Parts: sequence; C-alpha cells; structure tokens
Amino acid sequence: MCGIVGYVGYRDCSDVLVKALSKLEYRGYDSAGIAVFDEGKIKVVKSKGRLADLEKKMLKQGALKGTAGIGHTRWATHGEPSDRNSHPHSGARVTIVHNGIIENYREIKEYLQRHDVKFISDTDTEVVAQLLDYNYNGDPLATIVKTVEKLEGSFALGIVFADFQDTVYAIRRESPLIVGVGKDENFIASDVPAILKYTKDYYLLEHDEIAVLSKTGVEIFDINLEKIEKELKTADWDMDAAEKGGYEHFMIKEIHEQPTAIKTTINPRIQNGLPDLTECGITIDTLREFKQIFVVACGTAMHAGMVGKYTIESLARVPVIVDIASEFRYRQPLVGEGDLVIIISQSGETADSLAAMRLAKKLGAKTLAIVNAKGSSIAREADMLIYTHAGPEIAVASTKAYTVQVAVMYLFAFLLAFAKGTIDEDECKRLTKLLSDTPKIIEKSLDKTKKITQFVSTKLIACDSLMYIGRGLDYALSMEGSLKLKEISYIHSESYAAGELKHGTISLITDGMPVIAVATQPHLFEKTISNIKEVKARGAKTIVICTDGFNVTDDVADYIITVPKTDDILMPLLAAIPMQLIAYYTSVNKGNDVDKPRNLAKSVTVE
Ligand code: M6R
Repeated sequence: MCGIVGYVGYRDCSDVLVKALSKLEYRGYDSAGIAVFDEGKIKVVKSKGRLADLEKKMLKQGALKGTAGIGHTRWATHGEPSDRNSHPHSGARVTIVHNGIIENYREIKEYLQRHDVKFISDTDTEVVAQLLDYNYNGDPLATIVKTVEKLEGSFALGIVFADFQDTVYAIRRESPLIVGVGKDENFIASDVPAILKYTKDYYLLEHDEIAVLSKTGVEIFDINLEKIEKELKTADWDMDAAEKGGYEHFMIKEIHEQPTAIKTTINPRIQNGLPDLTECGITIDTLREFKQIFVVACGTAMHAGMVGKYTIESLARVPVIVDIASEFRYRQPLVGEGDLVIIISQSGETADSLAAMRLAKKLGAKTLAIVNAKGSSIAREADMLIYTHAGPEIAVASTKAYTVQVAVMYLFAFLLAFAKGTIDEDECKRLTKLLSDTPKIIEKSLDKTKKITQFVSTKLIACDSLMYIGRGLDYALSMEGSLKLKEISYIHSESYAAGELKHGTISLITDGMPVIAVATQPHLFEKTISNIKEVKARGAKTIVICTDGFNVTDDVADYIITVPKTDDILMPLLAAIPMQLIAYYTSVNKGNDVDKPRNLAKSVTVE
C-alpha cells in the first residue's frame, strides 16, 4: 500500500508532487508528506490525514520552493497515523519515502540503537533512512546497495541525499515502481496515473534495479551497479481515465464504465464466434491437460473466482477450488503438476496473491493470471496471462474490475468446456455471443435499477446489520454485494447460502432487519423464495433482486428490483449492477467518503 512519487525537472516540485500524490491517494490516505530541495537543503513537510490536510499545512507554513523532491501518501502499517509516523523519514544526510514492509526492521533498529542512532517514529521506514545514513560514504549508489543487502521484505524507495542536489534515487524489491520520462523532467511513481499529466513514457523497474534521476536524464543500474538499458513503455491510458469526468465519485463513474470495459476486454478475444485466448498462451490443447483448477485471489477478485467456479463446474465438469490467497499460501495446498492455478487480481500486486502464485509455480502447477494493471508483478511472473482492460480503477471499492474479471472467467469457462467436449461448437458460440451482448444489457440494467436502488438505499442507512442471501451463482454474487456494501457504507453485512441460513444464522434475523435476496436462477427460484419466506416470517424486510418476468409476490418481497434477462449463467453480470448501486447510494446517503473508505487502501501489498 502507500503511494510514492518523486520529481526532478523545471516545474514547481511541491505542486507536481501533490498533484501526483492525488492520483495515488487510493493506495492509502491516512497521512501524506513531501521533501523538496529548497535553497540547497532538503526540507520536509508532512501531516496526518488526507492530502488536503498536507496542502493546508503547506499553505500555513509557506510552500517549499524547488524543482526536485519526493512525496508519499500513507496507509499505516507500523505505527499509528500521525505527523511523526508520516513519510518522508530522514537520517542526517538522507531522506526517503517508502512503500512496502521491512520485515527485519526490529533487528536493524536494535543494531543501530546500539550505535547511538536515535529514532523518532515507530515506522519500519525510518530504520531504512537511518541505515542509509549510517552506511553513507559519499557514494549514493554504493550506499544504497550496501543498505538494501541488509533488508528483508518489500520496498519501493524514493531517496534524496543532501549532498546530491536535484537528484532523486529509487530502488524497488517486490513493491511496484515506475520511472516516468519527460522532456527536461523525470519522475518516479508507484503507479502510472501519477505521471499521466506530464508524460506517458515510463520504465518499469524490476527487482533490485536502481534508478538515478536528474533533470536531463535517467540512468538505471542493476544491483552490481552495472548500467542497464531498458525498454521505454508508453501508457495506453489517457488523463481522462484517471479523472472523475463530471461524476461525483470515481465509484459511480467506474460503475458506468462497465459496458465499455467488458467490450474492450472480451471482443478482441473472440474469433469466428469462439473464445480465442491463444494470444494469452492458452490453447485448446493446453486446456485439455488440466484435471483440477484452483482460483486463488483476495476480496472482490476472489468473488469473481466464485462465479468462475460455478460456471466452470457446470459447463466444463472440471473441479474448481476457490481459495483465499492468504489461506492457500499457508495451508499446504494439494496442488501440483497437471493442475491449473488461476490468480485473479486487479492491481497485480496483492502480496498474498503474488505469494500464492509463486507457491503454486514451485509446486509444479501452471499459473494463469487475470490482471488489470499492466506490467504488474503477478502479470509478469505468471505462465499465462489474460489482461482485463478495465482502465484505471481508482475507487477503493472495486466495480468494473470485478465485472471484467467475471467476463474473462466466462470466456475461459466456455473455451474450457469446448476443449473438454462438454459443450459443442454451436453451444460455445451461442454462449460467447450472449456474453458479447451483455454490455448493451448492462447499460439497460443501469438505467432500469438506478431509481429503485437509490430508494432502497434510503431504507438501509439506519440499519446496523443486514444479510445477503442466494443460491448457486446468486450466492456467489451475493458475497460480492455484501462486501461492497460493508466496505463503503460501514453497515455490518453477511452473505449466506440461502439454504444454509436455517442451520444457525437465521437466529440473527430480527424485526425490520433488511435481507437482500438474489434470485436470478430459474432452477433455484422456488427454493430461494421459500428461504425468503422463512426470513420474512421472522420479521425481515426483504429486498429481492430477480430476473425480469419472475413472479415475486408482495407477500415475499417488500421491494423488488428486476434486472434484464440473458442466459441464466450470465445473470451475475447483470445482477451485479443493482448490488453496486445499492452500496454506492447507501454510502452517499450516509455521507461517507465513497471512494476512500476508512481503514482501507486500493492496493494491498502487505500480508
Ligand atoms: O488488486 P486485487 O484485485 O488483488 O485486490 C484484491 C482485494 O484487495 C480487492 O478486490 C478488495 O477486496 C476491493 N477493495 C473490494 O472492493
């Protein structure tokens, strides 16, 4: 988590750093700070709270004047959010910003304390700053190498040395870092949106590569200090993609971007009416080999995997185990040769998902990554890769990244079923055509459900707790609906397999408690209706999300939200829309910070 930036050029550095940080605030937002070479000295300003609090402080104290510096927006791991624990952190001659976690920081801290080094924060980062200072011998590159040799864990570091004015150094291990290249100005950043205002050209730093940025150029070295040439990449996102574009929040903008995101992700992967993933390294022959599939991911991405499981098992008859990445990596999973492990991740940097993928590879499985962020660690290390083309997702609550992940799971499931011979070519073409038609129907679903979800959300804002229920694919989807609501509305919510309620959880139903039931699957409809009646009989207020034309009577549902019809198997793509809107409007109605919910960050690069 945390976002880091750095700048060297001709512009007002404070302004560039703050603007760049504003594009990375999704990575963490409990404190922020910058360090700038101002009249020959490194000066630091930092503040607990949002970037806006830092800006207020800068106005009060007088802006730092200079054309080179580094900046940080924090998601606290070591030490509470406070001015003292905010980055940048300094030793006498070195100041740094850091994204990642130094696992052996205690050991190093104790060592430095024995050598009379004093610490003022609780962070692991200050230990790196002090170690750099302790090792400093007048040669920044040698100092960096000597220092990182001692570090265990993950880091992307932006470093400035007091003796080397207007030069920014950077190094990464595990945590992401790019180097933006402009004309007479260069940048470092944790993610591409931070630099888009100034340049689209960038280098992706690999593990243990060191970048040295001056106004006129960028030099990159490996850990042996051999100079290396790297391929200059060009971002395919434009500035608008990272702006709100007239919407009140990123989340609602991203909800509306779903039809386009799905089209852009799916259409290029359809040839002659059939899914074609050869460009991603997946052929019919490779698919035939897999006997068992694991889907490993976290949060929303894991929920996309749940939809994949139901679809693959019913269509392709291949067993699918969905695992939470943080569990998979420590439970000695029975994975090996002949297995496929699918890792789903929007950011491509989620620490647990990355570690799970590495473990799967080590155990001999083939890995397939479904990733949104180009060039991210998971994307680079997987054996096979399907990029989702959702564009940048800025709101912490994932929406468009989820539906494109689900869409890719469908494409994959159709192809797998065709490869295994459990569906014929005509059926595969029929399903693929219906999938490629969903963007249009999602647009309808958006129009159709906007008003009713807005209204329903007014009924939820006062409640403390609610429940989502469903069966089969509807259950898979209700998990996502529940997560979405709780993360941005702060209302406690659980998702439950509707048939499982009566085995204990139904005792939580009290008079007036909202229960959101998803009922889009005809073969499960009557069963779900019975479960809805069970909770209704115990006082629940029921909100039923179902397919157009389903007969839900008023004695079952207090509120009915209908979504347009497509093939049963694809219904999660359509029913996801009212789920997202309910969460969004409830958060808005409660006056919450929709895009930056408390305690969260977008990219979870710590365990
Ligand atoms: O970047 P990833 O897809 O790997 O992130 C996984 C989860 O952290 C993420 O989906 C999280 O659950 C979302 N904030 C939920 O909206």
